[in-house]
Amino acid sequence: MPRIAYVNGAYIPHRYASVHIEDRGYQFSDGAYEVVNTYRGRLIDELRHLQRLDRSLSELSIASPMAQQAMRLVMREVVRRNRMTTGLLYIQVTRGVAPRDHKFPRSIKPAMVMTARSIPEFPQEMVDDGVKILTIADIRWARCDIKSVALLPNILAKQAAAETGAYEAWLVDECDYVTEGSSSNAWIVTVDNILVTQPTGRRILAGITRQAIISLAGELGYTVEERPFTVTEAYQAKEAFMSNSSHFVTPVTQIDDAVIANGKPGNLTIELHQRYVRFMEESAPIDSLMG
Ligand SMILES: Cc1ncc(COP(=O)(O)O)c(C=O)c1O
Repeated sequence: MPRIAYVNGAYIPHRYASVHIEDRGYQFSDGAYEVVNTYRGRLIDELRHLQRLDRSLSELSIASPMAQQAMRLVMREVVRRNRMTTGLLYIQVTRGVAPRDHKFPRSIKPAMVMTARSIPEFPQEMVDDGVKILTIADIRWARCDIKSVALLPNILAKQAAAETGAYEAWLVDECDYVTEGSSSNAWIVTVDNILVTQPTGRRILAGITRQAIISLAGELGYTVEERPFTVTEAYQAKEAFMSNSSHFVTPVTQIDDAVIANGKPGNLTIELHQRYVRFMEESAPIDSLMG
């Protein structure tokens, strides 16, 4: 069964799907995107992702390509045509196609692409064993709250991590604070079982999973402190983990050369992972437009 992509109003076999060479996403990275996790036939936190997409677009003065309900129908159609039950749905919106010129073109329609990629269920080994992190300088721009398609610093960081055998890179600012991961939010747990993560603002992406974790941790009776933490604090943490839509709550067992606690995923991290999986299981099935 061929994969199907949605490109500016048409459903096209993935291998033939393409955009114009003067699409400003290609020319200037002039666009924003979202990744929505599809878990066993559920679009997880769909409405929050669409709200964040709207916000990214509005911060960039890019018009929304369609009304939210229409977009939700297209999302379902892309999932259906790809027979995806577990996987990732990518939505990418750019300012549109126009002759190359930095200024916004006068009248231009935004361009939208949606793709779906089925993936196996989240590997249990990652929860059982945890992952390694490499810390690296955060060289990104000053608007990391926008989910822009311009990801070069993130790509370079992830590649550097991979080259040292680490799974993810944690980005570190000029004051030695961990801002976030190259494609995830970064968390530590203190000896007093307090969860710590960088506050939202212009330095990080306000992760949708991060927000869900804050609520779930509260329900479980844990305190979350939204404050910066340093690399040294992370090395000495009781537990550490990363979060994003495709990795939920993934334990971190090593940061650079520092093994976290006894090198095994922490109990609180595992409890949160399990609670997050339950939250996904309890989400509305995809055919519902109720969120
Ligand atoms: C830089 C960055 N931070 C954080 C996240 C986590 O966001 P979410 O939980 O919405 O997937 C991502 C997700 O891809 C990301 O790219």
